[in-house]
Amino acid sequence: MSLELREVVLTYAPHTALECRALDGVSLRVEDGEFVGIMGRTGCGKSTLLQVAAGLMRPAEGTVLVDGEDIYAPGYRRSRLCERMGVLFQYPEKQLFETTVEREVSFALRHTDLTMAERRERVCRALELVGFDYQKVREQSPLGFSGGEKRRLAIAGVLAARPGILLLDEPIAGLDPVGRQEFLALTDRLCGEGVTVLLVSHNADALADHARRIVILENGVLAADGPVEQVFSRREELARWGVSPGQAAECAEQLRTRGEEVPPDVIRYGELLPYLLRMGRRRER
Ligand SMILES: Nc1ncnc2c1ncn2[C@@H]1O[C@H](COP(=O)(O)OP(=O)(O)OP(=O)(O)O)[C@@H](O)[C@H]1O
Ligand SMILES: [Mg+2]
Repeated sequence: MSLELREVVLTYAPHTALECRALDGVSLRVEDGEFVGIMGRTGCGKSTLLQVAAGLMRPAEGTVLVDGEDIYAPGYRRSRLCERMGVLFQYPEKQLFETTVEREVSFALRHTDLTMAERRERVCRALELVGFDYQKVREQSPLGFSGGEKRRLAIAGVLAARPGILLLDEPIAGLDPVGRQEFLALTDRLCGEGVTVLLVSHNADALADHARRIVILENGVLAADGPVEQVFSRREELARWGVSPGQAAECAEQLRTRGEEVPPDVIRYGELLPYLLRMGRRRER
């Protein structure tokens, strides 16, 4: 599914002393099956962008199109949007509220026409995708799970609806390295199956490894939009936008300051290895 924002403006608390123009004329087109990372300093408008894209906050100006249809137009069926768009807010584990895992994960399916058997199948598959055994956990209370496990349950709840677009707001923040890798591998797999992914994160190394394209917001304005290698090699501007290019890119820069010839688009650990080996070999001589 494709997503397009055209000249979107969103203002919180308009005409008050607290007025805040969180999105200021943002235009962005994400094609079917793309994996886009969204970055920017805290308060730049990332969560607001996702909420507007999810149909949760009507912009004061501009349009939001999903598969070419204006989702805020009168007559647009919002229920259809809920079925097609999976949204994971920041710290989703705090939003679990049902009494059993089965009820929690099937929550988004409650207004669909699916039969009980179809629902169960969806819940079972979604739980499997995030690494749970359906039979083992279905009757358990979500509240008894650890923080990381709760987040996986929340993700299963989103996946059960089989969305065509995933809007993920800092889904890996606070996860341990294994949980983070598992989550990103799952996102990759879904993207490989044709799901469009927009992922907000401050983790540039993770985005360098998984996203193809990076969008950076600054004060509600689109500051950069391009291939990950291109955006992450704009070091001076990144510093101005409050974005770190990641530890691998920092390491590449350290090598450059020591006189190594490392191209500016080296931003991943895997790409650094040949340069480190070359340095090592030179030292041995
Ligand atoms: N409900 C609200 N009422 C008023 N202002 C708000 C509201 N929500 C967000 N804002 C303001 O809008 C701006 C954008 O907020 P947003 O939450 O989208 O930023 P963000 O990029 O997601 O930040 P973070 O990285 O901290 O999650 C900020 O200046 C914030 O203070
Ligand atoms: Mg946010």
